[in-house]
Amino acid sequence: MKDTWDFKRFKKEFNQYTGLDLECYKDKQMERRIGQLIDREGYDDLSSFFKALKTSDDNLHKFYSYLTINTSVFYRDTKIYDYLQKEVLPDILNKFDRLSIWSVGCSHGEEPYTIALILDDLKSLGRAKIYASDIDDRALEMAREGRYAPNLLEKVPPQILKSGFTEKNGHYYLNQRYKQAVSFQKQNFLSPIYKNMSKMHLALCRNVFIYFKVEIQEWIIEQVSELIPKGGYFIIGCAEFINKPERFKLERQIPSVYQKTG
Ligand SMILES: C[S@@+](CC[C@H](N)C(=O)[O-])C[C@H]1O[C@@H](n2cnc3c(N)ncnc32)[C@H](O)[C@@H]1O
Repeated sequence: MKDTWDFKRFKKEFNQYTGLDLECYKDKQMERRIGQLIDREGYDDLSSFFKALKTSDDNLHKFYSYLTINTSVFYRDTKIYDYLQKEVLPDILNKFDRLSIWSVGCSHGEEPYTIALILDDLKSLGRAKIYASDIDDRALEMAREGRYAPNLLEKVPPQILKSGFTEKNGHYYLNQRYKQAVSFQKQNFLSPIYKNMSKMHLALCRNVFIYFKVEIQEWIIEQVSELIPKGGYFIIGCAEFINKPERFKLERQIPSVYQKTG
């Protein structure tokens, strides 16, 4: 590194520019990864890297992807989606007239659209409003477009692939009825967004908080779980864990799936 910027300065400038506080991430892991990225991409130092982020949305998108490895696929973790289809969604459809569902950190839309496809399979798409948010503009743009490469659809059951998508020139286009069911919004889940939000009967917060410091993870879990009414569900990623879930009035049903108890 040639310049006088240290990570503290980089984080400060980045926060001012994007509103994302990198202090929330696990320090060593994040700093090591940024250092590797700077070497790999051939930037001279932190300040020239920051300049590149400021001047190109593409670079910023690449950096967000790199920070959180924003890969996602349809029906990621078959066991969880199977449980959602057979237990969680029938349960809340039975308990509540209309559902509000939130995909927190939705990447390119694979997760909220999977929920839309499952709800349709359960003949209940019309009873739900699905909200999906991410900090990454480019990811949201791709989500709204609904065009996917075949490798992202490998876990989609064949009959759903057939009815849910139209294939054209090697890509799959999600059919309009599913696109209409999901409302995408740019949102930083580390910011105070929660007080203006309505109740969510199901919140998916998967593969998003593993990169954050424990106290930040717990803050996110607390904020999201407060939006869930008794009987609703909170779903996390398979590599994530909630320590003492009863603190958040959550009860583990199976690994990654929690139900709100109060
Ligand atoms: C690994 S992807 C997870 C996608 C999906 N939830 C899944 O499990 O397949 C993580 C996503 O979280 C988003 N993200 C990271 N930090 C965020 C923040 N502070 N606010 C909103 N989204 C964020 C990233 O942009 C990325 O799209």
